[in-house]
Formats: sequence, structure tokens, C-alpha cells
Amino acid sequence: MALVFYSHSDEGGLFEKRFRAAIAEQLPDLEVRTWPEIGDASEVIYAALWLPPEGLFKALPNLTHIFALSAGVDRLLQARDLPSEVPIYRLEEGGMAAPMSQYVHYGVLHAQRQMGLYKEAQQRQQWKRDAAEPAAGDWEVGILGAGVLASAVAETLTVAGYPVRTWSRSRKQQAGVTSFAGWDELPAFCENLNTLVCLLPLTSDTDSIMNAELFNRLPKGTSLINVARGEHCVDEDLLTALDSGQISSALLDVFRQEPLPSDHPFWLHERIMMTPHIAAPTAGGIAAKQIAKGVADAAAGLQPAGFVDRKTGY
Ligand code: NAP
Ligand code: GLV
Repeated sequence: MALVFYSHSDEGGLFEKRFRAAIAEQLPDLEVRTWPEIGDASEVIYAALWLPPEGLFKALPNLTHIFALSAGVDRLLQARDLPSEVPIYRLEEGGMAAPMSQYVHYGVLHAQRQMGLYKEAQQRQQWKRDAAEPAAGDWEVGILGAGVLASAVAETLTVAGYPVRTWSRSRKQQAGVTSFAGWDELPAFCENLNTLVCLLPLTSDTDSIMNAELFNRLPKGTSLINVARGEHCVDEDLLTALDSGQISSALLDVFRQEPLPSDHPFWLHERIMMTPHIAAPTAGGIAAKQIAKGVADAAAGLQPAGFVDRKTGY
């Protein structure tokens, strides 16, 4: 019995080291093999993966469980050789709630305290105060998504004094947060927003959701934070909305192509702030332990947490 591990971006092998330690603690008899060194493929029944290369699944005919080293499973579900009957489990929270909340809080603060304007004024060596700077209590934040990470972000922002609303498929109840559900309520969700945050999974329903139509529903000057997936945003529509002032600024952590090509207009845009997909990394020990626990549950005949419904795509 063996598990195959593969991570596309495990610089220095830190996560693999933590994962191997967590498996050794919880399932000492399970052999962990790093792709492509799979040994006897017939012995491999578990896979723990981030952005697996093409051909991996075809080489592993006896998989019983697939564990994603991530919250989002969009790339995994797109793998052409993904076996149709093998259950997939994703990371739920996995130590990501705190860094994601910090990241979004930072972005909201940046917009609400008008740091972009002050930066521009500094570049002009201009001492310029804005007496009308809005208070947190008047700064409406809307989060697309109301799942594990969005609800943690909503809690952080609520505690910081921001009015928060979420948008999801099903209605939620969270203290201090207004819940909107379904496409019919998306226009009402957009009303009076100051910052829009995307924390949706990438599915066929949510692909390109942040497009000209959505931007035009928002009040002029709304700021944007995308921490979900690059494909949620139509890049050309965002650039147009930034140029017209419909969107005032954007904090982007995710992109259609990563790394972002060097000639992409986002790089040098003065009202775009970019980070290289670091909002909530899964390199930590909590994620490693959680995935190892899932494997241990599977080995014990239990249902691991984080089951992915392939019909909804998340
Ligand atoms: P989650 O718990 O599965 O939550 C997903 C939320 O999206 C749920 O509230 C769900 O609604 C809602 N949703 C899905 N499809 C929808 C639709 N068609 N219309 C309206 N709402 C819809 O996911 P999570 O763990 O919070 O993670 C969210 C995403 O964050 C991941 O998929 C990943 O892409 C991204 N992420 C990024 C980073 C980073 O570093 N940038 C790190 C981690 C995760 P229901 O509640 O009604 O089902
Ligand atoms: C990171 O983007 C994740 O989905 O965990």
C-alpha cells in the first residue's frame, strides 16, 4: 500500500517534508512515493496532489482516494486522465483562514483608507488630506462566496467594523453578515458596495463571473480583490473598468496564467496591486496534518473530510 505525492510548486520541498512527517506519525506503515518515482504502480492507492502533470492518473490504475493539496480543485477536475469513479477530497481551512483573512483585511483597509490616492499624492510630493475619508462602518464589503474561507474573512471584517455581505448558492446565517443567495439576488448584493471580494470556487457557473456586466452593476469607484482564481475575472473588462473609473483599484492574487506573462498589462498598471498567488498558502503544518488525517481516515474505512461533489465542481 503506497501514496503518491506531487506538488507543482513546493519550493525547497518543505511541504513534502511536513507531509511525510505527518503521514509517518499517523500511518507509519504507509509508503510515500514522490512522482514520478512511483515504484510498483499497482501498490499505489492514494494520491496527494497539487497541479498534477498529464499522464499521472493513467499511470496509477488502483487509486481509491485522491487528496488535493489545495482548497480549490478546478485544475484537478480538468485533468484529462482523471479517473471518473475515484473520490476527491479537498483541503477545508487547512490553516488558510487566518492568512486569507489578513490578506483581504489588508486589501479592504488599503481601499477604505485610500492608500492608493496617498501613494499617488506622495509621488507628486503633494501633502493632501482627504477630510471626507470614509469610516469602516460606512465601507460596504461584498464577498462572492460564503464558504469556509469567505466566512472566516467575513468574521474578521465584521470584527473590524465593516458591514459585510456574502453571496452564495444557499442562504447562510452568520452573525453580523447579510446573506444573498442565487443569481436573482446578485444585483441586490452589488448595490452600494465599496469593495468586492471574490472567494468562489472556479466552476463552469462561476467562470468569468467578474465581467463588464457585473462591474457595471457595482457603484462607480468600487475596489476589487480577487483571491479565488484568475479565470473568475475577464482581464480586458477589468482594464476597461479601471480606465473608466468604474473600478477604482484592484488587488489581484490570482491570474488566468501563472506566472503572469511578462507582457501582461496588469504588471505596470498603476491601480493594480499584484501578488503571486500567496494569499493563503497551503505549505503549513496544519495542511499537512489535515491531509494525512484524511488518508488515515480512508485507511480506516472512514469518509475523509472535504469530499468534492463533481457535479457542482467544488
Ligand atoms: P468553499 O468552502 O467550497 O466555498 C465556496 C463558496 O462558493 C460556497 O459558499 C458556495 O455556495 C459558493 N458558490 C459556489 N458556486 C457558486 C455559485 N454558482 N453561485 C453562488 N455561490 C457559489 O471554498 P473555500 O474553501 O472557501 O475556497 C474558495 C476558493 O478560494 C477556492 O476554491 C480557491 O479557488 C480559492 N483559494 C485561493 C487561495 C489563494 O491563495 N489565493 C487559497 C485558498 C483558496 P454554497 O455555500 O451555497 O455551496
Ligand atoms: C489555493 O489556491 C488553493 O486553492 O488552496
